[in-house]
Amino acid sequence: MAFDRVFLDELSARNDIVDVVSQYVQLKKSGANYFGLCPFHNEKTPSFSVSPDKQIFHCFGCGAGGGVITFTMKAEGLEFPDAVRYLAARAGMQVPEQGEADRKAARHRERLYALCKDAARFYYDTLWKPENRVAQQYFLGRGLHRRTMNRFGLGYAPDSFHALLDAMTAKGYTRDEMLDAGLLSRSEKGHVYDRFRGRVMFPIIDVRGNVIAFGGRVLDDSKPKYLNSPETPIFHKSRNLFALNLSKTTKSGYFILAEGYMDVIALHQAGFDCAVASLGTSLTEEQARIIARHVGRIVISYDADGAGQSAAQRAIDILKKCDLQVKVLRIPGAKDPDEFIKAKGADAFRALIERSEDHNAYRLEQIAAKYDLEDDEARVQFLRDAARMLAGIESSIEREVYAGRAAKMAGVTAEAMNVEVRRELNIRKKKQKAAERREIRSPVGMAQPKDRTLAYADVKSAKAEENVLRLLFYDQKLAVGLEKELPPAWFSAPVLRKIYERVLALDREGQMVDILSFEGWLEANEMSLLSAILDQGIPPGEHRQEMQEYINTIRMQRVRDGTITEAGEDPLLTFGRIKKQNAGGQTI
Ligand code: UTP
Ligand code: MN
Repeated sequence: MAFDRVFLDELSARNDIVDVVSQYVQLKKSGANYFGLCPFHNEKTPSFSVSPDKQIFHCFGCGAGGGVITFTMKAEGLEFPDAVRYLAARAGMQVPEQGEADRKAARHRERLYALCKDAARFYYDTLWKPENRVAQQYFLGRGLHRRTMNRFGLGYAPDSFHALLDAMTAKGYTRDEMLDAGLLSRSEKGHVYDRFRGRVMFPIIDVRGNVIAFGGRVLDDSKPKYLNSPETPIFHKSRNLFALNLSKTTKSGYFILAEGYMDVIALHQAGFDCAVASLGTSLTEEQARIIARHVGRIVISYDADGAGQSAAQRAIDILKKCDLQVKVLRIPGAKDPDEFIKAKGADAFRALIERSEDHNAYRLEQIAAKYDLEDDEARVQFLRDAARMLAGIESSIEREVYAGRAAKMAGVTAEAMNVEVRRELNIRKKKQKAAERREIRSPVGMAQPKDRTLAYADVKSAKAEENVLRLLFYDQKLAVGLEKELPPAWFSAPVLRKIYERVLALDREGQMVDILSFEGWLEANEMSLLSAILDQGIPPGEHRQEMQEYINTIRMQRVRDGTITEAGEDPLLTFGRIKKQNAGGQTI
């Protein structure tokens, strides 16, 4: 990707994965591999392995995996190029100039930044045209001051299919650039048209101040309420927070995490210069790491409805992983912070923040709300439920404090509560052990990728595809002439096809096929899957013969699902013929 292969080879040679990982994890050798406690999830028995031969790490527990660069990205919270620089510095190496392809990609991104900025300016100008009073009125009617609107660069996309297209064309941008920036959509027939029409516009600005995307809201009740930019070369939703550009300089020492654009804007207007939002999706780990880089404390301030509250529960877990002190704010009598501030004012909100509860207390309250604590039967249920939650608290001191509080809530002695918690702790420990054992022993459990978004539709085919990849990484010579025998289109799993295509491309270009060629090129979840596949190792045997069997399996599956029929041949005949061919070999 971004760096020259010769340089990366040197980098990887000077940063042995066992050395690098050992800075974070205590490793013990067992057989060919090293084992330790996974730094990326909580565990008591080691399921994290490092292979010095393959230069990969892989965790059976959480599924994380990759090479030394991926490890550094995860451990240090860095993007690919920064992880490379980090490792270069570690080994005392100079980072070389980038190649032409990278300079071209960087130039393209610069164009997209400029385009988004011009588009934001266009939406802003449009908002303040006299004929768009309705849009101005919309914002003003929601209590925003003109100064706030300018500060956030709010705008309006006219109700036209080509207003932005025309304006940006006049400024010299191409359709491809506008498509790439997510500002245009393409119809099935191939026509392009403005993506945002008749919406008030919220520019999304990155931490360095570049406009990178937009959210657009309808003025009435039509759907979708908000339309957002898609993922683009300059916009990765999971890696950005709305208003981070403004909040990063806060002196408050904490962030307020809200759900929506309007919440954040209302909070800033009310003097809370530390409000950010996770852009509509549920909070991601990357976003949590970004938060942790700026502040040590966070107050979750999500909507009061059920969806908001369960999103808060999920956010707590993610934020805790980054060692943030997490509090949760509850908004009485209003659906969200925006509405609350409008009704009760900034001081009332400040009081809410001061009274916001530690996440453990918040969880206890959530549990207590389910039961009538006057009722004996319900109280017993509450204690069980609370004990289960308390058993999940890592720190024993914290656990004790909140166990005391739960006891008070239910009107029992602290001793009684502690007995209950200890029992839950034991159950938890046993379950965890059993799960870890199952995970390692059962190959059936490994049939599907850990990450559900990569789930295989055709497991039989996908397993053969995995095996093809494993063989190719083991012995690159097997790639010669393979494309004709096994066209990438026959792969059933998109992620495996993507990897296979790159293997073929690398081999064509005379490059090495190894984990290093995939670092920074695959998404983190895809990299984890590849490591899991490679971690399994290669049984001894006749590899060419094995490859043939895997190809046959895949081909058979494609005949079965009708993807291929051999030139005019009846699919059933093809099927029978392959089957016969295969019967000569071993089982697959
Ligand atoms: P809300 O519906 O709570 O938004 O969704 P809000 O900001 O309170 O909306 P209004 O303007 O006050 O009515 C929270 C966030 O979820 C994302 C947006 O980022 C929104 O701010 N969202 C919501 C979408 O991306 N698309 C939608 O259709 C709805
Ligand atoms: Mn809301």
